[in-house]
Amino acid sequence: MGKPYRPKDHYFQRAKQRGFRARSAFKLEELVQRFGLLRPGGRVLDLGSAPGGFLQVIARAVGPSGLAVGVDLVPVRPFSEQWVRTAVVDVLADDARELVEAVASGPYDAVLSDMAPKTTGVRATDEARSLRLAERALELARALGRPGSSFVTKLFMGGDFEVFRAQVREAYREVKVVRPEATRSASNEIYLVGLGLRAPVD
Ligand SMILES: C[S@@+](CC[C@H](N)C(=O)[O-])C[C@H]1O[C@@H](n2cnc3c(N)ncnc32)[C@H](O)[C@@H]1O
Repeated sequence: MGKPYRPKDHYFQRAKQRGFRARSAFKLEELVQRFGLLRPGGRVLDLGSAPGGFLQVIARAVGPSGLAVGVDLVPVRPFSEQWVRTAVVDVLADDARELVEAVASGPYDAVLSDMAPKTTGVRATDEARSLRLAERALELARALGRPGSSFVTKLFMGGDFEVFRAQVREAYREVKVVRPEATRSASNEIYLVGLGLRAPVD
């Protein structure tokens, strides 16, 4: 049996100490440490950005010469950094790409998604909804990322994981599967990291 879910665990306390809005900031820090992903002056799109833990890490890494765009179904509490822009967007909506581009057009150096569906407790349903969000994130990353850019998406491990990984492999030169240390032990989520977006073939 997995460890019991402890909402106020070690990472929760550490997030409070570091002034992070969410413990997920530690997950992105680990991914950045391992794979680079963010650099000063970079343009980064963060899908599913509320309450803003990822955005805090991105804002710091890209700095004032960069750009961090965060979108979510719910508003993100404003940032004082001028180079952070946020908007309420349903990433599954037909016009999501246009709405993102209205905030800031591409190309982006990295497209990250920490989107997660509201869970139902029915495993197959939750996995399917998580996969739908990840597929949409990949679509946007291919459309808005510059060649050579990076992609990260969260995904609940399940049935069609291998099919999705193959899709990411088609688009990116290197693909990694990571379960960051700050992931709750009871969670079945993983992150897929795509490095080096291939140039589109006409
Ligand atoms: C785990 S939270 C993200 C935490 C965030 N990365 C942070 O560090 O603060 C997942 C987010 O995905 C968002 N989300 C779920 N479905 C979405 C959709 N269709 N479009 C945009 N955001 C969505 C939720 O509203 C929620 O805020």
